[in-house]
Amino acid sequence: MSGNDSNRIFYNAVPLDVFQSLTKQGGFDECIDLELIEKHIATSGRIMEVGAGYGRCVDFLLKNKQESQILAVEQSPQLSKVLLEKYKNQPKVQVINADIKTLDVPDKMDVVLWLFSGMLDFGKEEQPVVMKRLRSFLKENGKLFIDIPQLAELTVAKYTSAQDIVMETPYGNITTFLPSFNDMETYASQAGFSLVSVIHYNTSTEKKRSIYMLEV
Ligand SMILES: C[S@@+](CC[C@H](N)C(=O)[O-])C[C@H]1O[C@@H](n2cnc3c(N)ncnc32)[C@H](O)[C@@H]1O
Repeated sequence: MSGNDSNRIFYNAVPLDVFQSLTKQGGFDECIDLELIEKHIATSGRIMEVGAGYGRCVDFLLKNKQESQILAVEQSPQLSKVLLEKYKNQPKVQVINADIKTLDVPDKMDVVLWLFSGMLDFGKEEQPVVMKRLRSFLKENGKLFIDIPQLAELTVAKYTSAQDIVMETPYGNITTFLPSFNDMETYASQAGFSLVSVIHYNTSTEKKRSIYMLEV
């Protein structure tokens, strides 16, 4: 097993309180990322979240965007169970326990969210393939938002080992690949997106991050 599939072990084993404390350490618990993009998300329509975790983003959307239909895609059976229970009486939310690498959706989306480093869970070769897949889920003028940590600018080298990051945890290792700005530009153009803007920001715990806004 390699790439994205090798990270399943962690997401199926990590206790919910540990996952939540990682969110807090990252400075995402107050949803600064979503606050930054809120004005770009249409007031109604269909929103897909890739890798919905325990529902941090879905909770924000429900609180702030009452009109949207939300499709929460999550590969982990453990986390999907949490989501299904949490939103069982919420008609605006559909939870799908599926792998985004193979999922097909019948209806096109206005917005796809891939936040809090979700993209990093995929290997270098997988990232552009998934981006193309997400492009195919979007309507004309649909938008994809991707949040990743900032990588110090590459100079002469096209690639640095700093892009391969392994996080060792008692619940299994997470193997990640951190794309550079150039990688993101290449993926976006190969998938047929225009890279509309990049928002650089610091989380509440001073982590330096970037949100890429891509439009069909
Ligand atoms: C870093 S967490 C982000 C959680 C949430 N999006 C947030 O912003 O709080 C990444 C999530 O993506 C899920 N994930 C990883 N690979 C996936 C895949 N192939 N298909 C669907 N979900 C996936 C993980 O199980 C995990 O819940």
